[in-house]
Amino acid sequence: MQKILLTGGAGYIGSHTAIYLLEHGYDVVIVDNLSNASRKAVDAIKNITRKSFKFYRADVRYKTALYKVFRENKIDAVVHFAGLKAVGESVDKPLMYYDNNLKSTVALLNVMKAYNVTRVVFSSSATIYADPDSRLYNEKTTKVARATNAYGTTKVMQEYILEDTVNGAEFSDAGGLKVMSLRYFNPIGAHESGDIGENPNGIPNNLAPYITQVLVGRREYLSVFGDDYDTPDGTCIRDYIHITDLAIGHTLALKYLFSLTGAHFDAINLGSGKGSSVFEVIKSFEKAAGAEVPYKITGRRAGDLPETVADVQKAKNILGFVTTHTLDDGTLDSLNWQQKHPNGFEELD
Ligand code: NAD
Ligand code: WQD
Repeated sequence: MQKILLTGGAGYIGSHTAIYLLEHGYDVVIVDNLSNASRKAVDAIKNITRKSFKFYRADVRYKTALYKVFRENKIDAVVHFAGLKAVGESVDKPLMYYDNNLKSTVALLNVMKAYNVTRVVFSSSATIYADPDSRLYNEKTTKVARATNAYGTTKVMQEYILEDTVNGAEFSDAGGLKVMSLRYFNPIGAHESGDIGENPNGIPNNLAPYITQVLVGRREYLSVFGDDYDTPDGTCIRDYIHITDLAIGHTLALKYLFSLTGAHFDAINLGSGKGSSVFEVIKSFEKAAGAEVPYKITGRRAGDLPETVADVQKAKNILGFVTTHTLDDGTLDSLNWQQKHPNGFEELD
């Protein structure tokens, strides 16, 4: 059985990927410092899958902690989710973001090298793309640029660190580093059980968790950040991808890496290929809830682009990846999780 180390595996995307891997014949080991996750997420993974796995509360920046994990487990591949991800916070605290996100990736690669582990899937983001010159963001033709916020810039820099290491000689004796950087668009949804889901700390930055908190009465109304964009209904368009589809994408990426010999770097979009406006997302939630989402139109949020939608052809060609969940599945599952656990993991006390 292949053993996959998930850094940041207690977080939103990591925990759902852990469930999918455990249910599809993989063993997992999770390392997470719980800086943005609850230990209850780890318990929820165990309860949902009825599988046991090792969990280490540790910081990926510290090699000593990582050495222990690699010493105690024969790791076949890594999925590197660990990172700080709040765009606004990263503008206020860039050093904290560079320190956490860059140091963790460098430490991880060094320890992988020491243990001859040569396969890693990396959590990248659509945020690394500059404004596209066509409607869709394409891995080859859309430029990757320095982002408008430190978070996004850490993702650009981490891709460079990974690609340079693939091209360098440090993994040669081990057979070459193989990297798949997955550029996620906008994750939505939760596990179908409703017993694990997105569990943001404080006021949610993202649209879906904000709406679900409005729908369970934790917040009064949604602020819609601008209805005067050059889009059909004036609100921004995003590509929402169901969390289970994302988990499947990671599993396919791992399979692909296992099929390779020699050094390899590639970057692939994980999106649905379909754009939905803020108003369309609100309507979908209203259908799921059978209730209105109270909202007010406020000013535009700095840095928001009118439209970001993935070109999904490369994911299909290389990984055989196609999404099977719709936006309505995503809003229904996000709401189900929030209704079952109105206060997220605090509820499970
Ligand atoms: P999340 O915050 O829920 O999960 C990240 C996890 O990493 C958390 O559990 C946190 O405690 C852990 N972590 C952070 N720094 C760590 C460190 N130094 N050592 C150990 N653990 C650490 O976020 P998520 O939404 O699950 O995102 C996972 C990854 O995907 C992140 O790298 C994020 O930047 C990236 N990503 C997320 C989105 C999104 O919209 N959610 C989109 C694109 C990319
Ligand atoms: C979606 C749409 C908002 C909240 C972010 C990061 C990106 C990636 C995914 C990590 C936008 C609108 C939102 C609200 C609103 N993360 N909105 N009211 O900005 O597309 O992407 O998460 O890599 O890097 O930037 O996602 O969910 O914040 O916003 O009107 O209260 O909803 O303007 O159009 P975004 P989001």
